[in-house]
Amino acid sequence: MAYPYQIRSLDEYKAAYEKSVNDPEAFWSSVAEHFHWRKKWDRVLEWNFKEPNVKWFLNGKLNITENCIDRYLPEMGEKPAIIWEPNNPEDRVRVVTYNRLHKRVCQVAQMLKNNGVKKGDRVCIYMGMVPELAYAILGCARIGAIHSVVFGGFSAQSIADRLEDAGAEFIITADGAYRGEKVIPLKNVIDDALIGNRTVKKVIVYTRTRTAVSMIKGRDVWWEDEMEHAETQVEKGGVVSFPAEEMDAEDPLFILYTSGSTGKPKGVVHTCAGYMIWTAYTFVNVFQYQPGDIHFCTADIGWITGHSYIVYGPLAAGATSVMFEGVPTWPNAGRFWEIVDKHKVNILYTAPTAIRSLMGFGLKPLEGKDLSTLKVLGTVGEPINEEAWHWYDEHIGKGRCPIVDTWWQTETGGTLISNLAGVTPAKPSWATLPMPGVQPVLVDENGTEITGNPAAGNLCIKAPWPGILRTTYGDHERCRKTYFSTYEDLYFTGDGALRDEEGNYRITGRVDDVLNVSGHRIGTAEVENAINMHSDVVESAVVGYPHDIKGQGIYAYVICQHMHGSQDDMRQNILQTVSRIIGPIAKPDKIQFVPGLPKTRSGKIMRRILRKIAEGESHNFGDTTTLLDPAVVEEIAKGKL
Ligand code: PRX
Repeated sequence: MAYPYQIRSLDEYKAAYEKSVNDPEAFWSSVAEHFHWRKKWDRVLEWNFKEPNVKWFLNGKLNITENCIDRYLPEMGEKPAIIWEPNNPEDRVRVVTYNRLHKRVCQVAQMLKNNGVKKGDRVCIYMGMVPELAYAILGCARIGAIHSVVFGGFSAQSIADRLEDAGAEFIITADGAYRGEKVIPLKNVIDDALIGNRTVKKVIVYTRTRTAVSMIKGRDVWWEDEMEHAETQVEKGGVVSFPAEEMDAEDPLFILYTSGSTGKPKGVVHTCAGYMIWTAYTFVNVFQYQPGDIHFCTADIGWITGHSYIVYGPLAAGATSVMFEGVPTWPNAGRFWEIVDKHKVNILYTAPTAIRSLMGFGLKPLEGKDLSTLKVLGTVGEPINEEAWHWYDEHIGKGRCPIVDTWWQTETGGTLISNLAGVTPAKPSWATLPMPGVQPVLVDENGTEITGNPAAGNLCIKAPWPGILRTTYGDHERCRKTYFSTYEDLYFTGDGALRDEEGNYRITGRVDDVLNVSGHRIGTAEVENAINMHSDVVESAVVGYPHDIKGQGIYAYVICQHMHGSQDDMRQNILQTVSRIIGPIAKPDKIQFVPGLPKTRSGKIMRRILRKIAEGESHNFGDTTTLLDPAVVEEIAKGKL
């Protein structure tokens, strides 16, 4: 068998789960044996959730790129690692073999070194979905620099905040990115982000769209020139090499910023060994990957799903990963199906929001597309409604492909709760059972564990798995407060869940002030802060409401001092402000101007009531007696959009 740690039956799952809980150290060391170590670990695990302090594979030495690339070269150097499907279907597909990937990653590593990047330095990456993005990530990992990828939909201000928080000295970007019919001028956004920045020394710019850019002498360099120079340095007599930096198991691998219920986004930190093992282990088991399978994860590498299941997990397993530059609906809604047909995709992993949006186009886009290579379907990012689940099952999987509903988070590195394709039972809209090593518990608001089934409560995890976040960059206390202080000795996920008689979990959504809009995580406080930046706005409150396609939409209640122009003008101004401060992904779907907000005497906004109004409730608001001015509720309800 290709993967000695692959679970192939329900009994094997049960046995693996039991062992992982009873003797995690023995369990994970038997998995870790199958990776390439420069030096093996002295101890498997050290942890407490108080500080928190979590360390896996202590004193083990490795480099993740040797695991993702070098170890596969002798046997499968000519096998495709990445198949790149460009935005424009007329453009040339690029098939990147493991040999080619090795060469490019060595070149990037050399290029970074030439530009002064050292182990531990933070490199911000702001690129579209081009293979060079994967090379950039892996090139950083090869020299031990910490990458921080920022999604292309974030604004200059968001990038500036992240650059500052990470103390990044280097940026890798592109002139522009294609997204359907749009071109995003990435380098121009970076230039705006760099106004006033004092830490960034070098910006490396890849050419993709030929968008006009201003290259600043001494700071900005072209990727192509630098890579060409690096090529002559890493290739001698037809042999390519760039020695990978020896990393400690617990050295940081990357930072990825994510939103929470308060303040600015925080930099979730993942480390080398635990993250690698977790992504590879979950990839192989959840999707039941078999050597030679073509895996297509439709996520963007700007989010954790792309990090874990386009780049690191698949490559650590020696898989072939499809990377798609475009959007599902351009030039038509048959794009995914065409890619499945063209590249003979075996595993398709996408988000419920994409499924719902494609459902809306009916079955016509499926006509003439051969989907018979598909073996496994997956979803991620938000709860999947039964209607979408059944459509996916019937029309894409043709009733013969298991669907894995994978629940996880940026902080968890990889999947924590999911069925294993064809191995453990699926249940529509239930994530089902925990992965080996994952011990979920449901607690009530006092933190008391709810035992017995069925049950409903807040979802926590009792013990660490290898892929758990280690800290939030530069602010460990924030990590402790956010995840480990709500309930003692538990990691709190921020999600609510149900558990059925069989122990299956169904994630019901966030229980904190975090929205999930089209699978993107957005903090209500963040959107409020952005709206409040507008000079005419006095105060605002943002809540989520059910949205047919996006899962959740953003509903903003705004108090204005005075209005410049009409309500519609003011709305446009607010949308523009949010776009500038966060990015277009955080633009409210609805903006209602209100005379006041429902507040308690202590000044706390009663969001519960605002949520009810946004959901369409017009009378039953529950107890409003603690409100300073109960009359304002009626008024807001009358003006509902
Ligand atoms: O609420 C859960 C939801 O997405 C949140 C994590 O968001 P993010 O860190 O951006 O990562 C998304 C991709 C892993 C979770 O707290 N979520 C994720 N997957 C599911 C889900 N909700 C229900 N079912 C899922 N399968």
